[in-house]
Amino acid sequence: MKDFFTNEEFTEAADYIRSRTQYRPTIGLILGSGLSPLADAVDNADIIPYENIPYFPIPSVEGHVGRLVIGRLEGRDVLIMQGRAHYYEGYSMQQITLPVRVMRLLGVETLIVTNAAGGLRPDFTPGDLMLITDHINLIGMAGLNPLRGVNDPTLGPRFLDMSQAYDPALRALALRVAKELNLPLWQGVYVCLAGPTFETPADIRFLRIIGADAVGMSTVPEVIVARHGGMRVLGISGISNVAITEPEEGKEASHEEVLQAGQMLVPRLISLLRGVLQRLGE
Ligand code: HPA
Repeated sequence: MKDFFTNEEFTEAADYIRSRTQYRPTIGLILGSGLSPLADAVDNADIIPYENIPYFPIPSVEGHVGRLVIGRLEGRDVLIMQGRAHYYEGYSMQQITLPVRVMRLLGVETLIVTNAAGGLRPDFTPGDLMLITDHINLIGMAGLNPLRGVNDPTLGPRFLDMSQAYDPALRALALRVAKELNLPLWQGVYVCLAGPTFETPADIRFLRIIGADAVGMSTVPEVIVARHGGMRVLGISGISNVAITEPEEGKEASHEEVLQAGQMLVPRLISLLRGVLQRLGE
């Protein structure tokens, strides 16, 4: 499988998707671990398995269905990625972010990214939602950046500003909607690790010190590529587990725990996203 892609290859994937649906969505949504059922809310959906789309990376972990659901939600045309591929599955940074490039070519202007994340703040509990205000690109600092390589200036700038990666107006809108719905919504900083190991207690103490509120293994590469392509980004973490800071008998992090929390998170996330979609055009 290819590690890097050309604009022609992104276009090939976009053309395939366009040939399989009449919808022309301007809103894209990426659903994280255990959040796939959210796509069931879409009306009259066209469904495209990732394996049929040229170059699309296919998720291999449970909780990631691996198909595009394109249809109507709250009167808007949306393109939903039901599951994502991760770096830890063996894909390159360019492979895991190819779907975002393709969305851009399809006309998506607003990207809503979701994930399941570990809570780093003592007051977080599983099932909480956190609006991402900013991120720490820890894997990027270690050299894993999806923009590494030759830059095609028709796609975006060589050196990308990331000072307002998470759109202030979209964040304000999400907070307004949450308030109206009486839905608790934390705000905080997401830090991206490569995974697939969960963190040691020392990792967790370090992540807290550097200013992170939630930790996960996705999202940041996608947001970088979305910003590179000039998309507006809204990011929401579903807190699926609370970080373990002291080793304790019988207490450990697991993917099952993450998927279970998804069941709690999905109804809350649906209400929030419905409200956001209703008001997006205003
Ligand atoms: N750590 C990293 N990634 C995660 C976690 C976690 O605790 N929970 C869900 N994704």
